[in-house]
This record gives sequence, structure tokens and C-alpha cells, in this order.
Amino acid sequence: MEKQVVEVTINQAKLRIIQGDITKQDTDAIVNAANSSLMGSGGVDGAIHRTGGPAILEECKQIVARQGHLPTGKAVMTTGGNLKARHVIHTVGPIWYGGDKGEPELLASAYQESLKLAMGNQLFSISFPSISTGAYGYPVAKASRLAIGTVIASLRQSVTSVREVVFVLFDSQTFRAYSSALKEIIGTSNEKD
Ligand code: APR
Repeated sequence: MEKQVVEVTINQAKLRIIQGDITKQDTDAIVNAANSSLMGSGGVDGAIHRTGGPAILEECKQIVARQGHLPTGKAVMTTGGNLKARHVIHTVGPIWYGGDKGEPELLASAYQESLKLAMGNQLFSISFPSISTGAYGYPVAKASRLAIGTVIASLRQSVTSVREVVFVLFDSQTFRAYSSALKEIIGTSNEKD
């Protein structure tokens, strides 16, 4: 399934874009595009809970009992349960209401807060899905530029434990949008099969 790969290096970290299923990734953490209830649902959220098993939901329930619903743009970390990834970082992207309700800032925050958790926990590698571009309706052309720009800016800021960031895009249209965004932002990139 992971046919195509686009990769660049930023400040000792590799940024890769692949088409595939995030539940199969063996990075230290995978990011879940959750909702504020953290109770699981459809899309990538449903797939992660199905594959990872009940231990993930159990920890999500404990987090919500402790600190309430997770606000949009924030992130928390749980076990990866039965996943190959040891951790799941749950974040909540914004619902798209046309773009002038703070959606770009909230989407950037979802990526930044997820990366901050990975860095704070000395993780080496992390995979992201395309947050907010499914059920939440964020236009993928805009979301892809913002996602890649935000991650590159974070990686450029400082050298951290994180040396590998992978965008795992489920469908070819989303994969193409992220590839174009990366090429646009970086200017030049190394394409590999
Ligand atoms: N691996 C990678 N990406 C996936 C997978 C998967 N296994 N399954 C779905 N996707 C992709 C979708 O195709 C889409 O491109 O993830 C992207 C995000 O879509 P959604 O999962 O709908 O996430 P989002 O738009 O952020 O909406 C979040 O949906 O499932 C609910 O609980 C979730 O209410 C929340 C809302």
C-alpha cells in the first residue's frame, strides 16, 4: 500500500510523506485525529481504537475523568495498546467553519502540541494523519500546507529527540496534496520509490 514516498531532511530530522494506514506504523508514537470526548468514533480514530484495543480507551477515560474533555488544539498521550507504536498521541483538530473561526491557528496548535508531547517524552519518531480533513471538513489543500509548514517550523526551531516525522495519508488525493505542499514549501526535495 505504501507505494510512494517523498522525503526531506530538516535539522537532523527526516520528514516523510507516505500513502498508507497509520495503524500499521512502527514509529514510537502515532497521532490520532480524535474529538474532545476521547471516546473514539469513525475515521482514523475508529481505526486506531479498533486495532489498538481497549487499553487505549481505558486510558482515555482516565484522562477525561482527571481533566475533562480535551480542548481543540491540545494533545494527550496514551499507550499504543496492541499497535506497533508504543504510544498514541490524541489531538483534536478544528471543525472547518469557513476559515475565519480560528481554524488555521487551532490546526497548527494540534500539530505543535503533538510534537511537543513527543519531544517532552524523548520520542524518536512520530506519525501524523491528515488531521481535520475527513469528518471535520478542513480543505485538504489548505490543511496540507499548514500541517507541513508547522512541522517544518517546529523541526527548524531546535534539535530535539524527534528525528523522524511521517505523514501517513490514507488516500491518493490526500497524499498528492501533501506532496505538492512539501515541494512548494521546500522548493527542492528528494523523491524515492
Ligand atoms: N490511516 C491514516 N489515515 C486515515 C485512516 C488510517 N487508518 N483512516 C482514515 N484516515 C484519514 C481520512 O481519510 C482523512 O484523510 O484521516 C484523515 C482525517 O479524517 P478523520 O478520521 O475523519 O478525522 P477528522 O477530519 O480530524 O475528524 C475527526 O472524526 O472519527 C471522528 O472522532 C473523530 O469526531 C472526530 C472526527
